[in-house]
Amino acid sequence: MDKIKVLDKEFILYLDESRIQNAIKDLANRLNQDLAEEDLVFVAVLNGSFMFAADLFRQIKLPAQISFVKLSSYSGTQSTGTMNRLIGLNEDLRGKTIVLLEDIIDTGNTLVELIQQLGDLHAKSVKIVSLLFKPEAYKKEIPIDYIGIEIPNEFIVGYGLDYNGFGRNLACIYKIV
Ligand code: IMP
Ligand code: MG
Repeated sequence: MDKIKVLDKEFILYLDESRIQNAIKDLANRLNQDLAEEDLVFVAVLNGSFMFAADLFRQIKLPAQISFVKLSSYSGTQSTGTMNRLIGLNEDLRGKTIVLLEDIIDTGNTLVELIQQLGDLHAKSVKIVSLLFKPEAYKKEIPIDYIGIEIPNEFIVGYGLDYNGFGRNLACIYKIV
C-alpha cells in the first residue's frame, strides 16, 4: 500500500524496506570496520530508534553491549525544543566508546541534550549514528559521524517513527502529504 492514514493525516510511501535495510547494512559495515579496537556500548534512544537499533545491532560483528535510554522532545509534527532528563543509563562508561543510535536527527536539539548528559559519564568517546538526517532542519554544530539516509525537511512516520504515538509498527517509511 502506497498511501496510508495515521490518525487524521495521510502519508505516502517514501522509503521501502529494502532501501532502509540497505542503508542499515552500509552503516553496520562501516561500524564493524571503524570500531574494531574499541570497548563498545551502543546506546539507543527510545522510543523511535528501537527498530533501527534491533536491525543494526544484529549486524554488528564486534563484542558490544547495548543499553536503551529515553529523552523525549517531540509532540505532534513540530519539534518543541523542550527537553527531559536522560534515563536508563547506569553502567560504568569509563574508557568505553559510546555508539549513540538515533532514528532521526531533525533540529539537533535532542542530540545536543544527549551529548551534554553523556559528557558527564566519562566515556572515552561518543560516535553518533543516525538512520535519518534532515540537513535543512539541522541547526547545531556537532558533526554526525554516521548517517544512513539524508531526507528533506518533511514529516515522516514508520519504522519506529511516530505521529502522536502511532505508525511506529510500519515496516516502511512514509512521508506526509
Ligand atoms: P530534534 O531534537 O529536532 O533533532 O528531533 C529529534 C526527535 O524528534 C527524533 O528523535 C524523533 O523522535 C522526532 N522527530 C523528528 N523528525 C521527525 C519526523 O519527521 N517524524 C517523526 N518524528 C520525528
Ligand atoms: Mg527519537
